[in-house]
Amino acid sequence: MGWLADRIVEWQQVHGRNDLPWQNTRDPYRIWVSEIMLQQTQVSAVMRYYRDFLARFPDVATLASAPDGDVMAAWSGLGYYSRARNLHACARCVMDQHGGKFPTSAEQLQALPGIGRSTAAAIAAFAFGERAAILDGNVKRVFCRVFGIDGVPDSSQTLRQLWVIAQQELPDRALERYTQGLMDLGATLCTRSRPRCVDCPVSERCVAYKHERTTELPARKRRREPQRRSTTMFLLRRGEEVLLERRPATGIWGGLWSLPQADEPDGLDIAALGLQVRRQTELPGFEHAFTHFRLWIQPVLCEVGALSGNRVAEPVGSLWLNLAEVDTAALPAPVKVLLRQVRDGAGSSATARGAVAGIDE
Ligand code: ADE
Repeated sequence: MGWLADRIVEWQQVHGRNDLPWQNTRDPYRIWVSEIMLQQTQVSAVMRYYRDFLARFPDVATLASAPDGDVMAAWSGLGYYSRARNLHACARCVMDQHGGKFPTSAEQLQALPGIGRSTAAAIAAFAFGERAAILDGNVKRVFCRVFGIDGVPDSSQTLRQLWVIAQQELPDRALERYTQGLMDLGATLCTRSRPRCVDCPVSERCVAYKHERTTELPARKRRREPQRRSTTMFLLRRGEEVLLERRPATGIWGGLWSLPQADEPDGLDIAALGLQVRRQTELPGFEHAFTHFRLWIQPVLCEVGALSGNRVAEPVGSLWLNLAEVDTAALPAPVKVLLRQVRDGAGSSATARGAVAGIDE
C-alpha cells in the first residue's frame, strides 16, 4: 500500500467516522440511498432524512412501487430534487431490469439513473468491496492540496489529472476504510476554509501545506455575481386550506407542490380560479438561495371565498391543502416554512429566514 493510503487508513481507524447510520452494513440499498443523499449535502443535514426515508421505504421494491408524491414528500427540504426523481427512476430500473437486485460492479451501477462515476465507486466499494476510486468534491480538494494541483478541479483537464491520482493511490487492501477515510479527511480536517493541518495525517507530504497555499488551493472558478430574481407567492387561504399548484417536472422545485406564483404582485388572475379575495395582506418578504441565483420571495396572503354563485373547484394540477398536513406534504422548504407560519398564526419572516438554511438546485 502506498504512503498516502497507509496514513489515511491508519488515521481513519482512530479519528474517522465509524458509526454513521449507513455504515456497518453491506446492503447496497441502504448504501445507495445514503450516497445519493450525501451528494452536495452535509452528513448533519442527511441524518434525519435518512432515518425517516428508510422507515418509509425500507427496500428497493417498496421505493419502486411508491407514488411519486410520496418520494418527493420524503425528500422535501433536502434540496436538489432531481436526486429524488432519479432515485425513484433508479429503484424502478433495479426492479424491472435487474430483478430487484443492485448490480455489483461500479461499471454497471454507473449506468443507473442518478449514479455518476464517484457514487458508483462508493457504492461498489462499501457494498461489494470493489477496488474502485471515488472523487467527490471533498476528495478533489484533498488531492488538489496534497499534490499541489493548480487547475480548477472541475475543468476537464484537471478532472482527468485527479482521476489518475485517485486511481493510482488506491490501496490493494482496506479499501473500504481508505475510501471512508478520504471522505472523512475532506469533511472534517481538510475543509475548504481553515483546514486543520496540524492534525492531518498527510500534512508532512502535502504540497499546499508545505508552501502555505491551503487558502489558494483548490483554485476557485471565477464567479459571476449571483443573479437575483423576485417573485410573488400567493397564499390563497379558504378557512384552513390553501391552494397549491404542481410545479412542472423540470426546473426548480420540479414536481413539488408549491404556491401559485407571478412576477408581479397583481399578476395572478384570482377570479379565473373561481375565487374572490375578501382580504389581502402582504407578509414579510425573504430571500432564498439557489446554487446559481437568489430568489426574493414576496408572499401575499389572500383570504378567499367562492365567487358568488360558484362552488369552489380544484383546478387541474391544483389541490387545496389543509394546513394541518403541511409537515408531510411535498413542498419546497421556504414554502413549508411560510405555511407553518400561517398555520401557527406567526407574522415575522425572521423564522422563515432562520429555518430555510438549505440551498436548492
Ligand atoms: N459523503 C459521501 N459519502 C459519504 C459517506 N459514506 N460517509 C460520510 N460522508 C459521505
